[in-house]
Amino acid sequence: MSEIAALLDETRTFAPGEAFVREAQVTTRAAWEAAAADPEAWWAEQARSRVEWHTPWTQVLDWQPPRVRWFLGGTLNVAENCLDRHVRTWRRNKAAFVWEGENGDRRTLTYWDLYVEVCKFANVLKQLGVRRGDRVGIYLPLVPEAAVAMLACARIGAIHSVVFGGFSPESLRDRLDDAQAKVLVTADGGYRRGQVVPLKRNADRALEAAPSVQHCVVVRRLPAGAADESFAEMRDGRDHWYHRLMQHADPHCDAAVMDAEDELFILYTSGTTGKPKGIVHSTGGYLVGATTTMQLVFDLRDDDVFWCTADVGWITGHSYLVYGPLANGATCVMYEGAPDWPERDRFWQLCERHGVTIFYTAPTAIRAFMKWGDHHVGKHDLSRLRLLGSVGEPINPEAWMWYRRVVGGDRCPIVDTWWQTETGAIVISPVPGVTHTKPGSATHPLPGYAVQLVDAQANALAKGGGLLTITRPWPSMLRTIWGDHARYEQTYFSKWPGRPDLYFAGDGAKLDDDGYWWILGRVDDVLNVAGHRIGTMEVESALVEHPAVAEAAVVGKHHELKGQAIAAFVTLREGVPASGELRDELREFVAAKIGAIARPDDVLFSADLPKTRSGKIMRRLLRDIADGRALGDTTTLADPSVVASLKEQYESQES
Ligand code: WTA
Repeated sequence: MSEIAALLDETRTFAPGEAFVREAQVTTRAAWEAAAADPEAWWAEQARSRVEWHTPWTQVLDWQPPRVRWFLGGTLNVAENCLDRHVRTWRRNKAAFVWEGENGDRRTLTYWDLYVEVCKFANVLKQLGVRRGDRVGIYLPLVPEAAVAMLACARIGAIHSVVFGGFSPESLRDRLDDAQAKVLVTADGGYRRGQVVPLKRNADRALEAAPSVQHCVVVRRLPAGAADESFAEMRDGRDHWYHRLMQHADPHCDAAVMDAEDELFILYTSGTTGKPKGIVHSTGGYLVGATTTMQLVFDLRDDDVFWCTADVGWITGHSYLVYGPLANGATCVMYEGAPDWPERDRFWQLCERHGVTIFYTAPTAIRAFMKWGDHHVGKHDLSRLRLLGSVGEPINPEAWMWYRRVVGGDRCPIVDTWWQTETGAIVISPVPGVTHTKPGSATHPLPGYAVQLVDAQANALAKGGGLLTITRPWPSMLRTIWGDHARYEQTYFSKWPGRPDLYFAGDGAKLDDDGYWWILGRVDDVLNVAGHRIGTMEVESALVEHPAVAEAAVVGKHHELKGQAIAAFVTLREGVPASGELRDELREFVAAKIGAIARPDDVLFSADLPKTRSGKIMRRLLRDIADGRALGDTTTLADPSVVASLKEQYESQES
């Protein structure tokens, strides 16, 4: 709480530096004015000028809340927009990806190289029977083939579903099964902190119970012939090496002409129930959102070297590592591994070596860098950096100031970008040549967006604290939840009866006296651990599957580096004794079920959980206990003594 108070006392402001403004492409408020005067016309203009269409649309927007369609009747292909139009120009020989593996491997792919790879892999997918509208799972380390696979799907009109390589076999299986994927693209392994992540082995376990998957394509990432062969046991008929299939693949592949509203991809994200939601994005609107914001927010120029550190398994990797940059013909750095491998200066070494000019990362990483010390940054020449970005969680002013001073040499503007898997593209962010920034504030909505702060009854608020909503549709908004349109309506548009036009983001926010937005974080049962969304229910469902567990309640506790960490309160089945070993076992059990990102920091055993008289678990109280705060009002509890004992246990464990 003290942190939020500190955040709201923040008064420092930073005007864009003169040198930056001199070169910046957007230096006036004209775009906001034009967009405010006629948002539909403004978006249509972005769509017309930034995207190549086969057939122009006949209607910009059809909004029947909460059902939305943009650019009706328009046809296009996203891969063509990302590749073909560049290979027709001088950009043909420009680097699209400059890739580094954690182990030091390096590759550069020009737009031409990428174009050829994508066409070939598109043909491979076709040969494996993938047709327009079919789903393809992608479970890869951060290697160029991840982008190749995504774009190859886009080229033939297949729908990709990228699953973060850190997810467990079970999480992968659930996602493949929900989407009824026909093909899975994976790798023998990937590198993370010097260890091999056994992706193919995980995939094998997932495929045992994902019968829709007929073929599995395996990228060879590990050294051929090494003892690591065991990482990829190939099953005849089902499994195929990527490099073998590519050897004879035809490098010509016509791009499928897609409708603007055809699905481009599904990306699963956590919600307030145990089951992740398959967020569905469209072809036309999504591309318009990604490409427009990429240019506006990052002031992207042809000589930039852009590095977004996100994995393709998250929306940031989709919009700002693949689609946004490539649609704009940018050069992107892609790095497979951890920031502290082999040393804590790895990121800065990469920035120096590749002459990175724009660097986009998460507050968790920034806080870790800050803790590791300035000298790691100081070892490298970062003078080419001209712009810094932050995404995924609230950034505390202290980390913001450090980022600006130590990484940005006091010369680079910072764009703190608020958005979500569901929004597809950045919504609230500075435009670096125009916006005066405040440390910790995402500042203002970009042109074309209508963001509104409301109270619990959906009344509009001009300032103060409230809930973040979006009142008008935007092109890159999600279209539905895969296979569950009712859940789409229920999750995002039914908080206020009679207002199906109001998108509820799930975040709390504050508007200060100068009209700056301060994002305070989730107000639902979704945690943000190191910038990753995790549903408390997901972790609870995992815990109760353990035979020793009767009941579990999971809350977020404040964590210095990760923003939030997971604390689990567990009641055990009759006769099962609590022990340190069991605690460790439960932590590992959750990691194995969901993925390491969901491993609870704390597991607390309790004879009972604090519940209201109507049987609801009192999470607020558990949060207070987990954070070591004074107990709130407990008079509505069924058994107040439960809480006292929990708190006591917690404190003794921490000391
Ligand atoms: C949080 C990531 C504060 C927020 C792009 C949102 C942020 C959730 C910011 C979406 C930011 C994202 N400041 N909070 N700049 N950016 N968030 O879907 O709670 O993984 O609802 O998308 O992250 O997470 P998601």
